[in-house]
Amino acid sequence: MSDVLMEVKNLKKYFNTKQGMLHAVDDVSFKIFKGETLGLVGESGCGKSTTGRAILRLHEPTSGEVYFNSENILNYNKTQMKAMRKKLQIVFQDPYSSLNPRLSVYDLIADSLYVNKDVVSKNEIGEQISYVMDLVGLEKRLVNSFPHELDGGRRQRIGIARALILNPEFIVLDEPVSALDVSIQAQVLNLLDELQNELGLTYMFVAHNLSVVKHISDRIAVMYLGKIVELTDYKNIFADPLHPYTQALLSAIPIPKYGLERKRIVLEGDVPSPINPPPGCVFYGRCRERMDICKEVSPKLDVKKENHFVACHLYNGIDQN
Ligand SMILES: Nc1ncnc2c1ncn2[C@@H]1O[C@H](COP(=O)(O)OP(=O)(O)OP(=O)(O)O)[C@@H](O)[C@H]1O
Ligand code: SF4
Ligand SMILES: [Mg+2]
Repeated sequence: MSDVLMEVKNLKKYFNTKQGMLHAVDDVSFKIFKGETLGLVGESGCGKSTTGRAILRLHEPTSGEVYFNSENILNYNKTQMKAMRKKLQIVFQDPYSSLNPRLSVYDLIADSLYVNKDVVSKNEIGEQISYVMDLVGLEKRLVNSFPHELDGGRRQRIGIARALILNPEFIVLDEPVSALDVSIQAQVLNLLDELQNELGLTYMFVAHNLSVVKHISDRIAVMYLGKIVELTDYKNIFADPLHPYTQALLSAIPIPKYGLERKRIVLEGDVPSPINPPPGCVFYGRCRERMDICKEVSPKLDVKKENHFVACHLYNGIDQN
């Protein structure tokens, strides 16, 4: 078994809202192995970004544990966390709104060094910027350009360069290609893949939809209303989806590679509100296979087959230990 880089245990992030306690991330546990990409997939509002931010402590978790190289970083004080931040980076969905429009490419990338107080000599900064621009495929002539002068792909390359200049080990990629033209999406995905191999990076890749993550993920976690409902190798997710929600998600995309004819499963009803959610299975209201127990008892994410975790009462009694 590969080395574990990140281990998240019983992570919760609740937001106190006027309407009540919003359970954005509700008791999730998972591991991320060194050098892998864990895809995190689910519909809008299911808690993907909040999970990514909470494990980096950009949102302070409500409770839980987050181990990075076996140390619980939730116990770190400010100084320890500052040093750790460099190793844990994030790339956002919309490179346009996440980049200060008044800064040039040079300053945008250098800014990342200043924020982290890693300031070295001007010459060295110049060299480092030149190095990361090369890494992410940004032409040197663009060093004094501003974000509005560049296309979406180049803007996202700046976002990636800002993360890379700190020499991170782990990057949360929060829908990094969703805002890009389809033709450019593949280029950025390829770049991320190459960078991972070259620099030995570990990724958590957040996406709405399974088709984006399938090309880049080693394993995929499916999220629904603040919970992970299935987690396994990307091949299993496509060839042998166990959770009724994963099956419905998959039925929306044709996958001729696996020679499977999928019947479209149309989910009835809407995703319930994450404010004061009822007990029992989060998918209960929309599940075609629900049973009495599902209404009362929340199913735990347990291993049901080799490397295949699922949270669903349909599989009670077949735990693989
Ligand atoms: N700062 C906040 N204050 C209150 N509620 C929040 C806050 N941030 C997120 N939420 C709520 O938490 C839930 C999860 O949001 P989150 O942004 O993590 O979802 P997501 O899966 O990333 O969605 P999307 O695919 O739209 O980006 C949503 O109900 C959202 O409204
Ligand atoms: S636990 Fe029950 S309601 Fe939930 S997904 Fe499984 S069968 Fe459906
Ligand atoms: Mg999001």
